Amino acid sequence: MERLFLVHALFTMCWAVPQDLSGKMFTFPKESDSDHVGLMPTGENYTSVTVCLRYFTDVKRAFSIFSMATPTSTNDFLLFKESNGDMELHVRYEGSAFTGLPDEQNMWMSLCGSWDSVTGLSQVWINGKPSARKMGYTAGSVLDGKPIIILGQEQDSYGGNFDKGQAFIGQLTDVHMWNYVLSPCEIQRFTSDLNFTPGNVLNWRSLEYTIDGHVVLENKQTPCQE
Ligand SMILES: *[C@@H]1O[C@H](CO)[C@@H](O)[C@H](O)[C@H]1NC(C)=O
Repeated sequence: MERLFLVHALFTMCWAVPQDLSGKMFTFPKESDSDHVGLMPTGENYTSVTVCLRYFTDVKRAFSIFSMATPTSTNDFLLFKESNGDMELHVRYEGSAFTGLPDEQNMWMSLCGSWDSVTGLSQVWINGKPSARKMGYTAGSVLDGKPIIILGQEQDSYGGNFDKGQAFIGQLTDVHMWNYVLSPCEIQRFTSDLNFTPGNVLNWRSLEYTIDGHVVLENKQTPCQE
């Protein structure tokens, strides 16, 4: 309880003005059960959701990529990589595993995941390649309650209870979240880093975030141009 209270206090007190993080990335340099980034979303009570981001890692065990919890569900919207290479998308109490998608270490991977409340279906895209469409969470539902969004760790309680064995190590960038399902063309534009519509819930070009522990915000490395 005290821990929950502390987390709430941190989340309500430390938000800064939104920043344009274009060309930057968060580097998570080591394994821990504490280092993380908190993201401040716009609004709550989402009907549909799409999250897109890019990650770079050499981790082969399971790890969390995007963890959103609400008071009623710690896995309200969770993108999670399994040690067998499957990409999992959890929406509230339903988790779907997606098999056979691109799974490379040591290169940037573009990842999008969506849940459509009209059909109840979930889908992920990795490097523009779509998964099968699977049961996400009951059609017509709302992901209600104030969300806490965390990068680098997986929430086993609302805002905390992290597991070192599921921590992310590597770089994350271009995190966007929408309260609707993106069309295949929009997913493609995000993947190619072309003119896509930035997220209306999380926008990398105007992001409120907090850093806890050893996470470095730095410029994205670009290939040598000599
Ligand atoms: C979200 O839904 C809850 C009830 O489920 C309600 O109390 C709250 O006011 C809603 N928030 C917004 C911003 O509509």
